[in-house]
Amino acid sequence: MNSLKRWRTCFAAMLLLGGCVPGAQETDVDSSKPTEFGYQTTPRTVRLLEGEAAYNFYCIGCHGENGLGNGPAARFLNPAPRNFQDAKFKFISTRFAELPTDQDLFRSISNGLRGSSMPAWGHLPAQTRWALVEYIKTFSDIWQRPPTPAIPFVTDPYVEAADKSAAIRRGEVAYHGFFSCWNCHPAYVPAERISEYSVVLGGPPRSGLRDGLNQAAIKTDEEDKTIFAPDFKRDYIKAGTSVEDLYRPIAAGITGTAMPTWIDAAASGPEDEDGNKLVTQADIWAIAYYVQDLIKKRKVMIPSDAVVVRSNREMRFGELGMEYTAELPVVESEEFIEDE
Ligand code: HEC
Ligand code: HEC
Repeated sequence: MNSLKRWRTCFAAMLLLGGCVPGAQETDVDSSKPTEFGYQTTPRTVRLLEGEAAYNFYCIGCHGENGLGNGPAARFLNPAPRNFQDAKFKFISTRFAELPTDQDLFRSISNGLRGSSMPAWGHLPAQTRWALVEYIKTFSDIWQRPPTPAIPFVTDPYVEAADKSAAIRRGEVAYHGFFSCWNCHPAYVPAERISEYSVVLGGPPRSGLRDGLNQAAIKTDEEDKTIFAPDFKRDYIKAGTSVEDLYRPIAAGITGTAMPTWIDAAASGPEDEDGNKLVTQADIWAIAYYVQDLIKKRKVMIPSDAVVVRSNREMRFGELGMEYTAELPVVESEEFIEDE
């Protein structure tokens, strides 16, 4: 079925190249999906053809023929491959449960998700990765919605500082004192210090905190599967460990898990008697530096390229001659081009 689909795509592309497709005169053909007959050769159609071919070659085994996340490998995988019909994405720069931006999808596809079975596909040409972004959006009508804007990155107040220790200290206070990240992730200071930090940031003294405070709490995701909030001193970080890659999930939250959009909590944070804000959105940056510092303090640093499964196209498929690429027509402009 898989190879049949592939051949259909190649065949359709050959027809296209030959320019022998009849019936392109209709103007009401849906050009949002490649169809066998009645092609409207828009750049989008071409991208979708390329996306479909690449998907059927690289992604189908996990994400499934219809994007349901139920490919043959899926039953062995936890977390499960994303279901593209549900269109709920985790590593996004929009708010919790909103649709990701194209850039978000491109980033996840290019970098993979460490510690899960989602490989990095950065070795594929950028054009192919963009085609994949466009293709996986055809699995759900949710994408007909107008695009949701990304949460603006507030300015990083620490970006110029060569020494990040002020950011890290502030991050420790905010992480424990106001944001209570330790409800799910471990606390990295004793309970008395959490209480102290809470008071500093305009909150009440804290007592009776959860058991096992220095360990991650076990949570369940939307599908009731067990999921851990990572211990930053030990566990995999899926979407990257640069401060930007840490800022993003902290600010936006992680859809489908218990991790909420923190940038909004920061915006409505407490004030002192003079009306000065005790917590600001910029504190998300401080927390990102703090979390990165915890990651750096690991006893054994895991080299980034050792962790993600890398799919080396040349190595795996080159010798076998199993190249997926169909010859696709080159379309120069965004204008509609009618087949001869
Ligand atoms: C070996 C299995 C496997 C293959 C092959 C695979 N994926 Fe994934 N993919 C996963 C898993 C598992 C997840 C979910 C990880 C998680 O939830 O932490 C995922 C998640 C994703 C996501 C969601 C990211 C987010 O923010 O939620 C996208 C997009 C994605 N994959 C695209 C692709 C594309 C495109 C391909 C082919 C080029 C591909 N995947 C191939 C296993 C795979
Ligand atoms: C209600 C529970 C909960 C709270 C509170 C919470 N998180 Fe999370 N967080 C999670 C879960 C669950 C995951 C794992 C998601 C996954 O692996 O798919 C996670 C993942 C993360 C990640 C990893 C992202 C990646 O790329 O893998 C970071 C960073 C993070 N959280 C930071 C924070 C910070 C900072 C706070 C406080 C501001 C916080 N979290 C509060 C539940 C929570």
